[in-house]
Amino acid sequence: MEQKSSKSLQKLSGLRRDHKGLINLMPLQTGGMLTDAAREALTEFADGYSVCDFCQGSLCNITNPPIRDFVQELLPQFLGCEVATITHGAREGKFMVMHSLARPGDSILVDANRHYTTFVAAERAGLSIIEVPSSGHPEFRVDVNEYAALMKQHAPKLILLTYPDGNYGNLPDARRLGEIAQEYNVPYILNGAYAVGRMPISMAETGADFIIGSGHKSMASAGPVGVLGMKKKWEQIVLRKSGRHANKDIELLGCSVRGVPLMTLIASFPFVKERVAHWNEQVSKAQWFSAELEKLGFTQLGERPHRHDLLHFDAPELYEISKRVREKGYFLYKELKERGIWGPQPGLARSFKLSTFAADRQQLGFVIDSFKAILSKYS
Ligand SMILES: Cc1ncc(COP(=O)(O)O)c(C=O)c1O
Repeated sequence: MEQKSSKSLQKLSGLRRDHKGLINLMPLQTGGMLTDAAREALTEFADGYSVCDFCQGSLCNITNPPIRDFVQELLPQFLGCEVATITHGAREGKFMVMHSLARPGDSILVDANRHYTTFVAAERAGLSIIEVPSSGHPEFRVDVNEYAALMKQHAPKLILLTYPDGNYGNLPDARRLGEIAQEYNVPYILNGAYAVGRMPISMAETGADFIIGSGHKSMASAGPVGVLGMKKKWEQIVLRKSGRHANKDIELLGCSVRGVPLMTLIASFPFVKERVAHWNEQVSKAQWFSAELEKLGFTQLGERPHRHDLLHFDAPELYEISKRVREKGYFLYKELKERGIWGPQPGLARSFKLSTFAADRQQLGFVIDSFKAILSKYS
């Protein structure tokens, strides 16, 4: 028994990541890779509660390190909002808003491409979820005009749009939905987990009431960390303080990210702010890559022309191969890994998702050649 437990403990030392250093195309990971500055902050602030040396009771008011400037000035400017705060991630931001603005039994209207965390956050808040359908295969477009009829029918307490969604990288008309939300006077959450930190986006320009970002997904940060921006009129509700502890946010259980993930977010911010200005290059790179993979017989799902680095392909040839090889769907993962490429979910071959965000054109050229070589190897 003791021997078994010491073996288990041994396993915990010298931990390594299999895919570190490979060409990374995994949609979850490409926008969360740290800058050098963030890597430095990672060790500098690695100890628990490292940001709390000069805390006077409120995380977002700490001046050393400069959390206050970041949260109260830089972040609202960047998000196009009036008030911002730090959360543990996009899902926590969604939950905070839902839990503050709606009561159990209330309805919420969300797009059919919503992330599972939207659903789970609403469930945790006891809300009933109504979905605005998508156009289905192959483009899965969400027409935001369809929110209007469902708003009339269900009188939701909140509406939410996923911009873009994490399955197809579709960018629905967020501005139009802002007009609809204002017309019906319903608070509007824009889930920008795949947008904030990758592409230009402004809450004010879309007419949303809330904007949500994910540091580990799109802001070059170690997670878990997220950002939540809002109109000033919601501050007293969503960021309400404890009756006993006047500095402590109720929805954040006092305060949120008390250490290193926040410092990596801050350290990467100058780079992240600059990179969103180059979004057009990202889009043309993704479009070129998608066209090249389609020449190999794959079909890109989601909107065309595509306007985001997250791409989803149907791959019937790979599926046929997976049915006759010993590794089944894992053959693709194995073949790509041998070539130094990490991306499609291991085990999936019938359809797969990739993000071109972190790779340059030369690396993507190598990825295209690798797919060609894999197809010809098994043909
Ligand atoms: C569209 C979308 N929203 C939210 C999330 C969750 O982000 P977080 O891990 O910051 O809660 C994801 C994660 O994949 C996502 O794809």
